[in-house]
Amino acid sequence: VTANREIAPGFFRMTLAAAPEFANPAPGQFVMVRDAGVRDPLLARPLSIHAFFRQRTEAVVTLLYRVVGRGTSKLARVRIGDALQLLGPLGRPFAIDPVRKTHIIVAGGIGVAPLAFLARRLRQIIPPGEGTIVSYCGASRADTLVGLEHMEEACFRTEICTDDGTRGTRGPVTELLAADLDGYDPRDTTLYACGPFPMVERLGEILRTTSFPCQVAVEERMACGVGACLGCTIEVKENGGASRYVSVCREGPVFDLHTVLRRE
Ligand code: FES
Repeated sequence: VTANREIAPGFFRMTLAAAPEFANPAPGQFVMVRDAGVRDPLLARPLSIHAFFRQRTEAVVTLLYRVVGRGTSKLARVRIGDALQLLGPLGRPFAIDPVRKTHIIVAGGIGVAPLAFLARRLRQIIPPGEGTIVSYCGASRADTLVGLEHMEEACFRTEICTDDGTRGTRGPVTELLAADLDGYDPRDTTLYACGPFPMVERLGEILRTTSFPCQVAVEERMACGVGACLGCTIEVKENGGASRYVSVCREGPVFDLHTVLRRE
């Protein structure tokens, strides 16, 4: 661990210098993090990769997390120089369609963690003047709008909202997007989202009668991270209408928004 700092009340940014063997991650992928030397997989926590680069012989992995329970409280107490065990990169990442000109990112709360990584990757891929990246970022209050600086740096335009109106428009991020949706051409636009499940559900409602494609990174509790414990099962609906249960860690965490139904 080379950094672990509280950047907003209850939100931490941790940087780790991983071994050079750590494979290059793609935006949307995650790692399972646990104390080095602890073998119990149930003590690991899934965290989205927020940033990644290589420096000399190290793979530098940045994670952004919110303290929500015992595992993340423990992570918050980790100090510079401590060792953690990382398993990853895991999961299916966002699929980037470079042919589409407009890329819209919808981030709710800590959902910004993988999406900031995606925004930077999109910025590398899309030549200036040949496309645009717009983000809609929402949080409960101004002081919990984390990762915004990365969004503003990577995106051509960033729209901000908070539940209490302390920064940007007052209200949910989904309504901010809904108000602008008519201004985008569904044939040329693709959306990427991550946030709490009610946000994902509402986004599904808003886009249901449109033809905008949208991928969503599902936030789910995980224990093993590799499809072994079935602790991260959700129901998804196939195109034909049949539903089935899938492991978020193995078949996700990124899914087509319209296939995601509900938590198990
Ligand atoms: Fe164990 Fe997904 S976390 S199956």
